[in-house]
Amino acid sequence: MKREAKAKRPNSVSQRSRVPQVSILRPGIAQIFFLELVLTALPACGITAAAQTADQAWLRYQGYQARTLIPLKVRALGAGVLEQSAAGELERSIADFAGETAGSTARVRELFGGETVLGTAEEVRKAYPDLPVPADLEPDGYWLYWNGLKGDRCLYVVAGGDQRGVLYGTFAFLRWPTTGVHQNLHDSPFRSHPAMPIRWVDDWDNPDGSVERGYGGRSIFFEGGNVRQDLAPAAEYARLLASAGINGCNLNNVNGASPFLTSEWLHGVAKIADAMRPWGVRLALSVDIASPQKIGGLNTFDPLDPAVKAWWNAKVNEIYTLIPDFAGFTVKADSEGQPGPSSYGRTPADAANLLAAALQPHGGIVLYRAFVYNHHLDWRDPKADRARAAYDIFHPLDGRFAPNVVIQTKEGPIDFQAQEPVSPLFAGLRQTSLALEVEVTQEYTGQQRHLVYLAPMWKQVLDFDLRAGGRSTPVKEIVSGTAFHQPLGGMVAVAGVGRDAWLGSPLALANLYAFGRLAWDPDLAPEQIAAEWTRQTIGIEPEVVRTVVNMLMQSWPAYVNYTGPLGAQTLTDITGSHYGPNIESSEGNGWGQWHRDDHLGIGMDRSVATGTGFIGQYPLEVAKLYESAATTPDDLLLFFHHVPYTYRLHSGKTVIQHIYDSHYDGAAQAARFVRDWATLEGRIDQPLYEQVRNRLEYQAGHAIVWRDAIVQYFLRQSGIRDDQGRAGHYPGRLEAEDARLTGYKVIDIVPWEDASGGKAVTCSLSNPTDSQGTASPAAGKPAAGEIAPGPALYQGTTLVVPKTPRIESGALAPAEPETCTADWTYDGPPGRFDVAVEYFDLQGGAARFSLEVNGQPAASWSADAALPSTRPNGDNSTRRTVRSVELKPGDVLRITGIPDGSDPAALDYVEIAPAPQSRN
Ligand code: GCU
Repeated sequence: MKREAKAKRPNSVSQRSRVPQVSILRPGIAQIFFLELVLTALPACGITAAAQTADQAWLRYQGYQARTLIPLKVRALGAGVLEQSAAGELERSIADFAGETAGSTARVRELFGGETVLGTAEEVRKAYPDLPVPADLEPDGYWLYWNGLKGDRCLYVVAGGDQRGVLYGTFAFLRWPTTGVHQNLHDSPFRSHPAMPIRWVDDWDNPDGSVERGYGGRSIFFEGGNVRQDLAPAAEYARLLASAGINGCNLNNVNGASPFLTSEWLHGVAKIADAMRPWGVRLALSVDIASPQKIGGLNTFDPLDPAVKAWWNAKVNEIYTLIPDFAGFTVKADSEGQPGPSSYGRTPADAANLLAAALQPHGGIVLYRAFVYNHHLDWRDPKADRARAAYDIFHPLDGRFAPNVVIQTKEGPIDFQAQEPVSPLFAGLRQTSLALEVEVTQEYTGQQRHLVYLAPMWKQVLDFDLRAGGRSTPVKEIVSGTAFHQPLGGMVAVAGVGRDAWLGSPLALANLYAFGRLAWDPDLAPEQIAAEWTRQTIGIEPEVVRTVVNMLMQSWPAYVNYTGPLGAQTLTDITGSHYGPNIESSEGNGWGQWHRDDHLGIGMDRSVATGTGFIGQYPLEVAKLYESAATTPDDLLLFFHHVPYTYRLHSGKTVIQHIYDSHYDGAAQAARFVRDWATLEGRIDQPLYEQVRNRLEYQAGHAIVWRDAIVQYFLRQSGIRDDQGRAGHYPGRLEAEDARLTGYKVIDIVPWEDASGGKAVTCSLSNPTDSQGTASPAAGKPAAGEIAPGPALYQGTTLVVPKTPRIESGALAPAEPETCTADWTYDGPPGRFDVAVEYFDLQGGAARFSLEVNGQPAASWSADAALPSTRPNGDNSTRRTVRSVELKPGDVLRITGIPDGSDPAALDYVEIAPAPQSRN
């Protein structure tokens, strides 16, 4: 990995370079549909644009143009800020549809005559008393209408239930051509309103500009302990959010939130609120419940203490003088080291109601997180169970929360795993408003380096019927407040956007879009959302849409298949990166993400009869389903039951065979993504094509790392062979530890399953001045007086970072890096082969690798990706495939590794597979 990220180009106000193409039909053509798509490739994708704009996501209207005559003239009937934003958006975009910016002619103006009018229902009624504007448009809701006439008399109308409705209606109007809905807006005007009032993103940004669990670059809000000067990206973010119907943004990390309530910070936050307000996005802040003590100078933060109460009241008043439309607070308390009311023997209701009372006069709300648990559980206790915590703590408090408190609950009882059952707390609070918390940021689902479209997972949660009280109560009806008649409710997504094109990965933006669309309408199908996102972002050609939608739809099951089987959760490094495989990291500690595997079986017994009793937290019908392994669905079996590896699933397979098969299937699917995407070359924007191709190739390689780690671990653990003979057999694989090594030393990898056979080789660095015979940094030379980063050396399984000498001015520069080689003699049949090189791309340097055959160079590359960890393991194990290499028996393959900084050019294996026929 590179030592430091390249300096980012400065952000500036949106500079959309637009190259619209005019598409005008003969005026005589019947105007049956409101808008249709014209086949054109989308122009250059925003990933190459200098400024950070919403165009980098899906707001790129120039790819689809009006085939019908949308009036160019836009008229806002009101002067409100949101209406003006809507009018501006419409004006720019319709101009793009019509080719306005290419230079409009009188002829164009004539063809696109008439007016597109927007306003609140009241304003529209006043201006056009004859139009059938509904009298009962809901808040945030809208109505789209066409008067059926053409030319100068043509009238399109966007009417909102309120100003926000005008804004959302405008984005819906612009999105219309991509939805695939063919509806004549004259005969059937389109009407919509959101299913739930709270549709928020949480950004876990820190004052220093880092983003907790963010994989899209540094904060768009903060840097170096201050609010950023350039808030244009914040405004663009709000525009993006509004376009998907999102109406709130919580700015800061739920951990360590206390600085944000200081007066100095609040002034900065008010500037962010100003930037986002024109798009109807209200700001919220995470707060530290101990703030009265930490920043308020009190000696207590007891929620029942009158001085504490007075402090919060004064603080909230101060906030509202600066930010009159402030949305409220998000609270993480008594969780993972954050202080909480339990310090004073008080309950979450005491703490939530304290804040709610201060916010209530201003219309603010409290989102109190149910993510409260003890992370020092006794793992030897078979009855201990982290999954129980939220229900055990919050259910007894039902009915004791103020009306402006919402309990924010993650979708599952553990923590954003790739697959979990729905949290029983959704049915456990019937006199309290609830919000469903999900992650757009892919913390446990591949951190945006893996393609994982999460809408199908969220949809499964939203549709899950908890059967509370023996009647139909799907989660979507609970969180919209309708199931139990609650005043509030909604969906919140931890978004994790940053300065690197929002989420770092172009396809990951589908998750942000889908979140907003589902929070607006949880009845939408994930495929439909994927299709409209693809048409807005990538291309409108049916084959392009079909391919991308299929990839998106298959991505979550594929990821589940190669990372964690049958509800055993993501088998990742749970105490560190949450990225690569590390199966035992869940066990033997108090964090409670246990899956309890041993040599006989796997799974947590959460039954009432013999286990932790967690299943008893579900309403009767659901509890009955899960209580018996025989009726538990296969995909959640190991979450609820401990079974032997030989246990037979409903599918007819044994658990162990399912583990083998699903990991091979998942990795094969990841490889298919590369081939599917390749069919799009030349049909979509080339830089976008290449960026996504590189990511998919990386993912396909990392899926093999996952596959092999889990398969070899459970092969050793169970001692049961794979029916299909794959586990433990890697045809064509040449291990680095078996090679003829020069300079390279054999090391054990931790955890062992992250390397083929548990071993790899590392190239130590030489340092003539180091008496221990270890190395000094070879590249990225430190300036005089700086401390050089220590080289990574391994003794057995232990990382040894030797003391590095201070380099004095005028001293000799460090020696050139040592070069290490690994040689193998090929003894297979002659032919053309793909040679995959599995190496470890560590932080702290960009090691170089090359492959030679009989001394002839075949490929060379830098290990310069940004991957977690400074130790070689499954976080950074990376595959580079050199295609179509000609080999014959006796040929010598050589890998040369050149360490850099603290990246020791570690190598796991090479694998030789026949090149596909087409390349012969
Ligand atoms: C996860 C995540 C943390 C976060 C926590 C939370 O555990 O890894 O970074 O703070 O969730 O939701 O509060």
